[in-house]
Amino acid sequence: MSQDRARASGLVLPNAIVSAGLLVLIGAAGAGKSTLAAAWPARQVLSLDAFREMVSDDPCDQDATAAALAALEAVLVARLAMRRRCVVDATNTTREERAWLLAAADATGTAAAALVLRTPLAECLARNALRPGPLPGREFGRRVPEEVLRRQFTAVAALTGAGLRDEGFAAAVAATPAATGWSVDMAPTPLPTASAPAA
Ligand SMILES: Nc1ncnc2c1ncn2[C@@H]1O[C@H](COP(=O)(O)OP(=O)(O)OP(=O)(O)O)[C@@H](O)[C@H]1O
Ligand SMILES: [Mg+2]
Repeated sequence: MSQDRARASGLVLPNAIVSAGLLVLIGAAGAGKSTLAAAWPARQVLSLDAFREMVSDDPCDQDATAAALAALEAVLVARLAMRRRCVVDATNTTREERAWLLAAADATGTAAAALVLRTPLAECLARNALRPGPLPGREFGRRVPEEVLRRQFTAVAALTGAGLRDEGFAAAVAATPAATGWSVDMAPTPLPTASAPAA
């Protein structure tokens, strides 16, 4: 991301994040990942929704996830092998979801960085509620089930910089929406339990 793009998105990132060959966005549905990803050149952004649409004509079709992930992985490995930056736009809230991305980085000798979006749960829920449900005849819509979103948020709240480095990330930061864009935490620790959703 260029400095101009960084300023345009209201997010100023440390060099270890900006220079990583693989940047993994992590955040619950509605956290703002895709909006933020638009700060990078479109060709660098590998969006799971976009791959779902490529393979099934429907970005929301959860039944297309396995095929979409396979296609995304193929492009990811090809780009990383060619030393081309990749920004992975998917929720990536579980360790398993991140492990294969790190394996692709490892296999290609690429440094991987994590950018955790810590948008408050209430904001994610409000944005999700405004999204359309399934179109007639479709099983899935842009709105995700609330319990799924709460689970994703809880997983994101528990992430730490040290934990992400243990997983294999060379660098990890967390960003929280602030009055003027995003406030970046260079050494993320778990969110206080008061910010976590009720069970
Ligand atoms: N910084 C922001 N300020 C205000 N609104 C925002 C901001 N970022 C995103 N939004 C709005 O929040 C909604 C969700 O954002 P976005 O689609 O980027 O989330 P996402 O993390 O990609 O969600 P998903 O995982 O479901 O794809 C959009 O309507 C977007 O316009
Ligand atoms: Mg998105």
